[in-house]
Amino acid sequence: MGYPHKPHPRETQVLSTHFGTADARTAEGWKQRGGYKALQNALGMDPLAIQQVVKDSGLRGRGGAGFPTGLKWSFMKQGDGKPHYLCCNADESEPGTFKDREIMRWTPHALIEGCAIGAYAIGAETAYIYIRGEFTEPLDVMERAVAEARAAGIIGKNAMGSGKTVDVWVHKGAGAYICGEETALMNSLEGKRGNPRIKPPFPAVAGLFGMPTTINNVETLTAVPHILNNGADWYKKMSRPDNPKSTGTKLWSVCGNITRPGNYEVEMGFPFGEFLQDLCGGAPNGRKIKAVIPGGSSVPIITWEEAESAVMDYEGMVAAGTMLGSAGCIVIDEAQSMPRQIARLARFYAHESCAQCTQCREGTAWTTKILERICAGDGTAEDLDTLLSIADNMTGKTICVLSDSCATPVVSGLQRWRHEFEALITRKTVHAVPAVVA
Ligand SMILES: Cc1cc2nc3c(=O)[nH]c(=O)nc-3n(C[C@H](O)[C@H](O)[C@H](O)COP(=O)(O)O)c2cc1C
Repeated sequence: MGYPHKPHPRETQVLSTHFGTADARTAEGWKQRGGYKALQNALGMDPLAIQQVVKDSGLRGRGGAGFPTGLKWSFMKQGDGKPHYLCCNADESEPGTFKDREIMRWTPHALIEGCAIGAYAIGAETAYIYIRGEFTEPLDVMERAVAEARAAGIIGKNAMGSGKTVDVWVHKGAGAYICGEETALMNSLEGKRGNPRIKPPFPAVAGLFGMPTTINNVETLTAVPHILNNGADWYKKMSRPDNPKSTGTKLWSVCGNITRPGNYEVEMGFPFGEFLQDLCGGAPNGRKIKAVIPGGSSVPIITWEEAESAVMDYEGMVAAGTMLGSAGCIVIDEAQSMPRQIARLARFYAHESCAQCTQCREGTAWTTKILERICAGDGTAEDLDTLLSIADNMTGKTICVLSDSCATPVVSGLQRWRHEFEALITRKTVHAVPAVVA
């Protein structure tokens, strides 16, 4: 099990430092690399002081929405006499995203340490790591690491001799994209069907088993021990001088039509054009990049011209007309058909819709049907306006944003490449959509 990507000199390795080092996967190997020092210190601190350090660092959730982590933790009412829970979201099913998988494969103890600190900081004695069902190898690695940490007294009752109880458990999902949505994840953990819940109540009030709960992404929690070890200022400095709202390093998964695909860790504010050309090698075979989906398939697709001048942080991506999302970056070169790529994404969302909300169930299915008809050369002049009208009905109308996520590539794609759709409709050219294997 090798790691194919050699770090580029312009990367800033924090979370990925030990990717590819098999020895870092054991508790002893992790300790030799400075691991579990942050947990030991944290267990002697006031939980509110830990929250403050995380707030001061500017860390924002890496699961997609970018919500400030310290602020989220502060929503958990301390001393309310109720059991509190931390759920680590390791579902990672967003197309184009494969960073959490690598954190778990190579540095499982880093995640356990982050979970234990996060749990303690929110007044929880139990943290669950909810792992995507298809992640068989990360699951094995995590289960072994958790058993090892428990046997070594790092987690469990009297964690690290602190007299405090902080335990971490691994739970395997059954392989459904929707279970990455935080309330669906909690339903699934409770043994129910993974349907999203209506909010409010928000998880910090009534979450897992009806108790106060915080849900955080793998990468978010793994950043926490580094912040405690090195200080909030160290983390904050990794940002653009004129933008203190996005701090730290970010793991970017890069795939599609790109010469050097893989996970890259760069500081917030890195220039996106240089990143794609110099670090990732641009499009292969001398082709040009046509389109980029920077934040996993749920964010707007932008053109190469928009991407080239963009900056890699939350605000920079919004300024470029898209979002940072999960930083699962899909690159599409000039040889690809945009209608075909978008039809393929729509089919994914139709397959993964939990079907609870009408706009999502019907909208994802009809969007797929129309797009595939256009790709098959059977589109009609009205189809494009129908797609936009369906997308409008799918946006902001449902319990969770899976529906919006299907509408986003359709709307952004039609705004930028309408001519490609029109060409298929008027010339009756055929672009078959490859089947998605269920
Ligand atoms: C359909 C859907 C799928 C999601 N999948 C994931 C996922 O796989 N991993 C993840 O961390 N967040 C996912 N999210 C976001 C979570 O709901 C939640 O915001 C996140 O786990 C919070 O962690 P953070 O604050 O550390 O980012 C998903 C959201 C939706 C609507």
